[in-house]
Amino acid sequence: MRALFVALLLVYASGSGKVAGANGAKGNRFVCTAVPAGTDLSCPVETTNRVQSTSPQEEELRNTIIQLRETILQQKETIVSQQGTIKELNSKLARCEADVRSRGSARRKDYSKNTMGDLPRDPTESVEQLGKTMQSLKDRLESLELRTNTSNGAFPSELRDLLKRRLSDLEGQLLTRVAELEEEKSQLYNETAAHRQRTENTLNSLLERITELEKSNSAFKSPEDFKVALPLRTNYLYGRIKKSLPEMYAFTVCMWLKSSASPGIGTPFSYGVPGQANEIVLIEWGNSPMELLVNDKVAQLPLSVSDGRWHHICITWTTRDGFWEAYQDGERLGTGENLAPWHPIKPGGVIILGQEQDIAGGRFDATQAFVGELSHFNMWDRVLRPIDISAMANCSAYMPGNVVPWVDANVEVFGGATKAALEICEERLFDS
Ligand SMILES: *[C@@H]1O[C@H](CO)[C@@H](O)[C@H](O)[C@H]1NC(C)=O
Ligand SMILES: *[C@@H]1O[C@H](CO)[C@@H](O)[C@H](O)[C@H]1NC(C)=O
Ligand SMILES: *[C@@H]1O[C@H](CO)[C@@H](O)[C@H](O)[C@H]1NC(C)=O
Repeated sequence: MRALFVALLLVYASGSGKVAGANGAKGNRFVCTAVPAGTDLSCPVETTNRVQSTSPQEEELRNTIIQLRETILQQKETIVSQQGTIKELNSKLARCEADVRSRGSARRKDYSKNTMGDLPRDPTESVEQLGKTMQSLKDRLESLELRTNTSNGAFPSELRDLLKRRLSDLEGQLLTRVAELEEEKSQLYNETAAHRQRTENTLNSLLERITELEKSNSAFKSPEDFKVALPLRTNYLYGRIKKSLPEMYAFTVCMWLKSSASPGIGTPFSYGVPGQANEIVLIEWGNSPMELLVNDKVAQLPLSVSDGRWHHICITWTTRDGFWEAYQDGERLGTGENLAPWHPIKPGGVIILGQEQDIAGGRFDATQAFVGELSHFNMWDRVLRPIDISAMANCSAYMPGNVVPWVDANVEVFGGATKAALEICEERLFDS
């Protein structure tokens, strides 16, 4: 603007110079002087008014001057509006800075808490630096504004535009950086969460493994490798099978047992149903031989096992003619018939190991209690073939019962009866 002003004066002066040259003889001369900013610009126009003659040149000059005046007035208006823009920018800047400050301090807290560290650069500092740069720019802008206000002079538009551009650039950068930091923070948070999740998973699986190991340490090699020990002749030591029986028209019951009790080993097992405590009973008491009871009917079995060694015994029965078989150590030692013929075995009763029931599930008699060890008590709802029974007895096969399989989880012990690991089959075999 100042340059424009000077140019204007120069144009005027040179124009006058020509006039002066033409009227040199009359001695009419104009002196070219610099006009300070803000002086009344109407002066040169008045001067031209004094020139009486209106040559085309002078007319042109006058028009130019009028145009220039208008331009200057427009420039003034522009300055005022630009001052408004500067004000607006200042307030934006202040908001932006406040934002940066608050984010910066929040971030500092985040990072001081987070000991994972090892970030390639400190994002807090770069944001702070940006903030400082903007602050200094703002200061510079203010002082420039002040100068504009006091001097009432022209504000260098290029500088202002430059500043404006620079400021909006900075603003953009700052916003981008803040967005980046937000992203970084979220990523960091996710990573931490993922890391924690992984650690937790590992710990959980370790815990599970330990629990498993602890369990298997106290439990048996496999669920069927255990025996029940009933060491005393009492009316309260016993084992109970959790499963009951279905209605059956035939059965096979097998077990390994070891006893040296006398007289008679007692009751290895009994099955009582409501209304019939002696639905199925295997018992040896007093000086009687071993007996099988079905529906309270009795058959005497030619079995003898009270030598304190392991023995494998099996008894089969079928409702058809009440036919039965008795096996000891894989050999069939006796058969008979008419034991509760055509009687179906009643379902829903209680299987007790080691005690004879006087009512279903209770009222035991110490004199009838089994004393010794019991294992592999298995029950089928059919008559097993001799070959299957001898294979089990000579340890070449193991068959779990289809109605009562011998498994740890299926057997409860009470009154001091215990579960213990079972000797391997061959050991039981050589023992017998
Ligand atoms: C400059 O003048 C404008 C309006 O005239 C005013 O709002 C602004 O605060 C002034 N700036 C300074 C730095 O004094
Ligand atoms: C962090 O996890 C959230 C939710 O799972 C997801 O929306 C966001 O995009 C993730 N951020 C990154 C940086 O992966
Ligand atoms: C065991 O018994 C089965 C079935 O009777 C028989 O085939 C097998 O030879 C026997 N094994 C031994 C080692 O005696």
